[in-house]
Amino acid sequence: MNAPIRTVPAERLPELLRRMPKAELHIHIEGSLEPELIFALSARNGVAIPYASVEALRRAYAFTNLQSFLDIYYAGASVLLHEQDFYDMASAYLARAAMDNVVHTEIFFDPQTHTARGVPMETVINGLHRACLDAGPKLGVSATLILCFLRHLSEQEAFETLEQALPLRDKFIGVGLDSSELGHPPEKFARVFARCRELGLRRVAHAGEEGPPEYVWSALDVLKVERVDHGVQSARDPALMRRLAQDRIPLTVCPLSNLKLCVFPDLAQHNLGALLDAGLAATVNSDDPAYFGGYLNQNLTQTFAATGLTAQHAHALACNSFEASFIEPGMKRRYLDRVAEVFATFD
Ligand code: ADE
Ligand code: ZN
Repeated sequence: MNAPIRTVPAERLPELLRRMPKAELHIHIEGSLEPELIFALSARNGVAIPYASVEALRRAYAFTNLQSFLDIYYAGASVLLHEQDFYDMASAYLARAAMDNVVHTEIFFDPQTHTARGVPMETVINGLHRACLDAGPKLGVSATLILCFLRHLSEQEAFETLEQALPLRDKFIGVGLDSSELGHPPEKFARVFARCRELGLRRVAHAGEEGPPEYVWSALDVLKVERVDHGVQSARDPALMRRLAQDRIPLTVCPLSNLKLCVFPDLAQHNLGALLDAGLAATVNSDDPAYFGGYLNQNLTQTFAATGLTAQHAHALACNSFEASFIEPGMKRRYLDRVAEVFATFD
């Protein structure tokens, strides 16, 4: 039997949240591109961006919904051209994640954003992969890559992207589905995901961020995903909530993203606590931290402060983050032991 989790006063929760080891499972690497790095790469590569300064760019980060964000996010990524650019972007994220005691991360990348501009697939994957390899010895962080298909593009384009990436198959562990959700249901990519399953790739998909619970059902039943990214709209469907709880399907929840994209009117109304209390394997993640005002620990501390979550919730979130990861079982056990140790000794 595991020891019960001791009560921790609210003012000590930020320290506990900081100290607990954790995995981050929902981070778009292009969404970690800070305005300062966008400007540095713009100068280094001679790519013009339509903002006069870092401050002017930051001021443009006032979003009303997912699409209003995606328009700026794809524009920001246009400064990435060379393998070193992808390496520098991922290295900056990994160093920042290590400061939050992230010990493992599964990083999304959007190759179509880059190949559409003429950047070769191997430039993207090799740069990101080299940063992941270096993060182990340099930072004590294990990192893997998940290739995301852009759902506003066609099934045919997703198949072509998969073909281009397969020669580099050993450098990514799985596939995901992101970009504009409404009007692009998961079943549009049924055949691509079936092929990925045959190839032994891990599968995740954004569903139920802005889209209805039906999209979560089809991510599970048609795409056969192993995790749902966001999934917060599932709370509108009791039968879906029972399915997610019974099958322990992880949700990678991103509270500050939901706040900035107006999925919830304020953080106090976020349903993270309700998802956890209903027995779902919810995790907390930063999504696009450079755009949404916070890396992983800021997501945790702000959500805990706004919604009154407890040390029990913190423990569940840390354990869920490793259980939901695609790490091999022995390593998972070791990370979970490290979580247990921090909670047992925290006072
Ligand atoms: N791409 C980057 N961030 C995203 C999000 N929150 N939803 C869908 N696609 C994304
Ligand atoms: Zn996302």
